[in-house]
Amino acid sequence: MTNRARKPYIAGNWKMNLDRAHSLDLVKTVKGRLGDGGDREVGFFVPSIYLADVSAVAQGSPLGVGGQNVWYEDSGACTGELAPRMLREVGADRVLIGHSERRHLFRELDEWMAKKMRAALDVDLLPIYCVGETLDERKGNKTDRVLKKQLESGFERVKVEDAHRITVAYEPVWAIGTGETATTDQADQAHRTIRKWLAGKLGDEAANLIRILYGGSVKPDNAKELMAVESVDGLLVGGASLKAETFLPIIEYDKN
Ligand code: 13P
Repeated sequence: MTNRARKPYIAGNWKMNLDRAHSLDLVKTVKGRLGDGGDREVGFFVPSIYLADVSAVAQGSPLGVGGQNVWYEDSGACTGELAPRMLREVGADRVLIGHSERRHLFRELDEWMAKKMRAALDVDLLPIYCVGETLDERKGNKTDRVLKKQLESGFERVKVEDAHRITVAYEPVWAIGTGETATTDQADQAHRTIRKWLAGKLGDEAANLIRILYGGSVKPDNAKELMAVESVDGLLVGGASLKAETFLPIIEYDKN
């Protein structure tokens, strides 16, 4: 392993894919390959209906299991939503917040993000806070502005002492599910912008505890190259996390 400042984190986001049987098979296979998991963190973000079963299978292994979204209230008239405590109750230890599909397809508002982050942290769910620009925003040279705005809304209620539990994922919207990956330079530049912003918000020491993952068409054949970028602390993988044949080589990016 390289001399990294932060433990690499490889996360799979299944989105609305797989069924119960395939989910459990995949978790068993990955669990079997992880060993004690000491040198890297691996997690799956699972459709909430499968969380209880997936966490039961993952139990006793270092594999993390999380929800793909969460609401910020503890209970109430919020049809179709899940409270942070509910995710915890079915075995989740982490959660995605602000994924681009939530922001763009389901019109989630920036104003909700701070509350979601706070509510997740308050019940000990480890959040991955997702940010990323659209193609139009990139073409209009607005990438930095968009990232900062998303970070400002997500981190409004974050405290310095929360930093070690938080991960940020840079997922350019134009690279998600398109087969088009950001170049290593593009990823590096965005990650540096994010780290600089975090340092300004929380101070260097706390900011240095936060991992920044890259997501967007990560595949076995580009994982090594992306992980070689010093500012990339891990990967958030969609399509390629659905099968052991493609996800295991990404987890083991440095082993071949
Ligand atoms: P793909 O890897 O399928 O592009 O998805 C990325 C993503 O959105 C992960 O959260």
